Amino acid sequence: MRTPSQKTFVRRLLRWYRRRGRSLPWRRTTDPYRILVSEVMLQQTQVERVIPKYREFLRRYPSIADLARAHVREVREVWYPLGYNIRPVRLWEIANAVVRRYDGQIPAQRDRLLALKGIGPYTAGAVLAFAYGRRVPVLDTNVRRVLRRVFYGRRTPDGVLWRLAARLLPRNAYDFNQALMDFGATLCTARAPQCPVCPMRDVCKSYPRFARLATRRTARRRRV
Ligand code: ADE
Repeated sequence: MRTPSQKTFVRRLLRWYRRRGRSLPWRRTTDPYRILVSEVMLQQTQVERVIPKYREFLRRYPSIADLARAHVREVREVWYPLGYNIRPVRLWEIANAVVRRYDGQIPAQRDRLLALKGIGPYTAGAVLAFAYGRRVPVLDTNVRRVLRRVFYGRRTPDGVLWRLAARLLPRNAYDFNQALMDFGATLCTARAPQCPVCPMRDVCKSYPRFARLATRRTARRRRV
């Protein structure tokens, strides 16, 4: 059962998303391979930088079989502007494992996804939710921050946040999960949350403290 403030949060978040949600290329597909590529790219890179690379990568490797067949060195080169790191190698290994074990079909079971090296709880949740339409929570850094601020206002163990996210999930879980990510990435940001225009102000546990801090900052600026 959701509490009244949890219900309010869900309703307002979905309304906010209808108005302010971003139009992103991976939101126009449910192809598990495309979702996987987007989520691996987004793990350490900002949305704006991911968009052109996501398109280029999929032009080059339109299917998981194309990626598995490619040389890993070439995959790393294509990826390179997103950072010199292990992600393209992991993605290529996942593609090979999926082609070998599952005939190229990305599994729709959490345990099978987690057994693929490079897929953790976040990416498994994202594939299940965004490709297979499952009603499962998806917690990344942004989502954790939003839930922590709004519902606890202090440090909160990860397990508590996962359970809360699962409890909040409405029927329209796809939009809810995407909305939480956009809300954290654009409004409830780490450094400069836009509390004055936030629709959650009156249910947010952190708002009173943030508002006091903002007032003090303004007062200090006026004094100088
Ligand atoms: N960051 C990680 N996954 C994302 C998604 N699906 N949309 C926007 N930002 C994200």
